[in-house]
Amino acid sequence: MPSAILLAITGWNPQGWDERFRALAPKRDIRSWPDRIGDHADVAYACAWKAPHGLLAEFANLKVIFSLGAGVDHLMDDPLLPAVPIVRIVDSDLTMRMTEYVALHVLMHHRRVGLYGRQQRQRIWHDHHQPAASEVAVGVMGLGELGCDAAAMLRNLGFRVAGWSRTAKAIEGIETFHGTAGLESFLARTEILVCLLPFTAATEGILELPLLRKLKHDGALGGAYLINAGRGRLQVDADIIAALDEGSLSGASLDVFPAEPLPPDSPLWDHPDIIITPHNAAESDPRAITANVLEQIARFERGEALEHVIDRGRGY
Ligand code: NDP
Ligand code: OXD
Repeated sequence: MPSAILLAITGWNPQGWDERFRALAPKRDIRSWPDRIGDHADVAYACAWKAPHGLLAEFANLKVIFSLGAGVDHLMDDPLLPAVPIVRIVDSDLTMRMTEYVALHVLMHHRRVGLYGRQQRQRIWHDHHQPAASEVAVGVMGLGELGCDAAAMLRNLGFRVAGWSRTAKAIEGIETFHGTAGLESFLARTEILVCLLPFTAATEGILELPLLRKLKHDGALGGAYLINAGRGRLQVDADIIAALDEGSLSGASLDVFPAEPLPPDSPLWDHPDIIITPHNAAESDPRAITANVLEQIARFERGEALEHVIDRGRGY
């Protein structure tokens, strides 16, 4: 009976994952692509992060594919992806990391950290009017595991929080909008836009100039801000620069980019109103995520239903 676990990881250090799986499951047969694959027929589970396209199709006895992150676009892009259940990560460790990132960047724009940094370098002692959080409208695109948690944190910090999702939601203390019909109203009330959408055919390029122009520019902050920690292919880099240069945006925090690593010649690097982080808003920490995956495998082998299986039709 095939039961080996294959780790197929690029872009992250695979060694830490391999060590962690071996430590937590010493009796398991753990294989690591590319050096230690062994007989392909033994492999039942693949734990993947940006595995080369076509690789997973080589394992005829595969039963489940685990994405080692919350997003599955790296799998959905593979034209030869085997037709087995795909489980993604939903884990409190990962969720809390994203909520930290969102709270930090909302507060940085709210408290004008960029402006005071520029003033400090010029030795300028000048304070600007500081609106209360309760005057500032933050909008979260994507009200899934990560969006809901971040929205709740922002609400607890006192911001006026709304969220936008594909289907209708009711969340205490958060104004909700959904679908294409709800998008304009959501944008029109939003000063700080936080994007935590997955990348799908429906969300590709959604963060483009016409959308950014619809944000609220005359609110308490006197401008609009973008925070994208969803996926890079949601945003049009040139449109973000155009929006900043024409004043449709007053600042942006970008953790993800259409091309990663962000190429050294990208104009995003030098823009004074952009904060760049290297796709680490919510790192998958092997210490937490390995335990999560092994628990799912144990459930599966007990005959219980897998959790957090994605819907291939929706793409997330
Ligand atoms: P979920 O699947 O739980 O939530 C996705 C949300 O997006 C849902 O609310 C869904 O709506 C909404 N959505 C999807 N498509 C559309 C659409 N076409 N229009 C409107 N809303 C839409 O995902 P998570 O919250 O767990 O993760 C979100 C994304 O965050 C991941 O896919 C990944 O890309 C990114 N991420 C980034 C990380 C980083 O370090 N930068 C780390 C981890 C994740 P509905 O509820 O109606 O289905
Ligand atoms: C994820 C990520 O999807 O780290 O988890 O981007």
